[in-house]
Amino acid sequence: MTTLAKAVQNLGRSGPVFREATASGNLRVLASLLGPAYRGMVRQEARGALSTAMPAGHEAVFDWSYLRDRPQLTRLYEAAKSSQWNAATELDWSTPVDPLDPHRPLIPEDFHPVSGTEAWKRLSPGERMKQRHDLLAWVLSQFLHGEQGALFAACQVTEAVPWLDAKLYGSSQVVDEGRHVEVFHGYLTRKLEKLYEINDNLYTIVDALMTDSRWDMKFLGMQIMIEGLALGAFGTFRQITGEPLLRQLLTYVITDEARHVHYGVLVLHDCFQQLTERERREREDWAFEVSLLLRNRFLAWEFYEEHWAHAFRRTEWERLAVDSKLMGSFRRTMFRRIVPNLKRIGLLSDRIRPRYDALGLLEYETGRAAPDLTATDLLEDR
Ligand SMILES: [Fe+2]
Ligand SMILES: [Fe+2]
Repeated sequence: MTTLAKAVQNLGRSGPVFREATASGNLRVLASLLGPAYRGMVRQEARGALSTAMPAGHEAVFDWSYLRDRPQLTRLYEAAKSSQWNAATELDWSTPVDPLDPHRPLIPEDFHPVSGTEAWKRLSPGERMKQRHDLLAWVLSQFLHGEQGALFAACQVTEAVPWLDAKLYGSSQVVDEGRHVEVFHGYLTRKLEKLYEINDNLYTIVDALMTDSRWDMKFLGMQIMIEGLALGAFGTFRQITGEPLLRQLLTYVITDEARHVHYGVLVLHDCFQQLTERERREREDWAFEVSLLLRNRFLAWEFYEEHWAHAFRRTEWERLAVDSKLMGSFRRTMFRRIVPNLKRIGLLSDRIRPRYDALGLLEYETGRAAPDLTATDLLEDR
């Protein structure tokens, strides 16, 4: 297929995304997402590539005053230093992971989007195990790519945030995110022996965060939205997997991520008090657009194309995936984490609440925000 024909086909398939990207009607928000969406969904720049270079236009801010005037951030930094762990020695990498072992299922059968269909009944027990293995590999691959984005975003916001206490804390997050890349890559290559490319929607969000020059937008996107997504997804998989190494790995990672969201809420709560109403609205609209992308678009298309494109049309797959137990559980945990934080930092005004309500997401607004949650609360999904 020619490049142009492929671009047109991708554009057609991305229709729902572009419709969603116009949902807020805020042109500045739309403009900031269109470039990344074009690169991610139409040109599919990461597909088949060994690397992708993105321009990063933010300013690095030196703080010559070295003022240590934010005690909550200091406490978080101290907690981060004393909670460091070595992924090479503290995880039991000798644990054998056999995707065909029925006693230690990677994910339960009924979480697979196709498990309730006739097509599933026609698969042999071995084929069903392989399905669960590949679906998990797709999900963990997206975790890995997201962690690489988090590593770079943590570097960028450490440079750009103006306060020393925030920079010091940020340095610990850089180390944490490096470790997360290490563990997900290790699990995928050493245990599952399969790695998928980055999903186009995730690419779009990561591209938008990397290339936006405003540091607080990077903060909002990474520390609140993507970290919230991560907490939801990691929590879901930690609960449903019967594989002990993955469970142990996710327990460690969730404990780190809890600090990252806490950090985002502390910094943005202070930062957003300084914004004009127009600036605040733009961030509120942007967070809503990203919520839509997160809610609707992570539907394992690459997995579908590999395994199920011959059996189901794209619209059928979309319905199966959206209605699956896996996506339901994931959406619930993710928005339970994101919505209270948006409220805490001032991005859930009466102007935007009806839109969240229409998506069924307002029920989460009375939940606890990150500063009020411990790592144990998150691990136990409280
Ligand atoms: Fe992470
Ligand atoms: Fe993180």
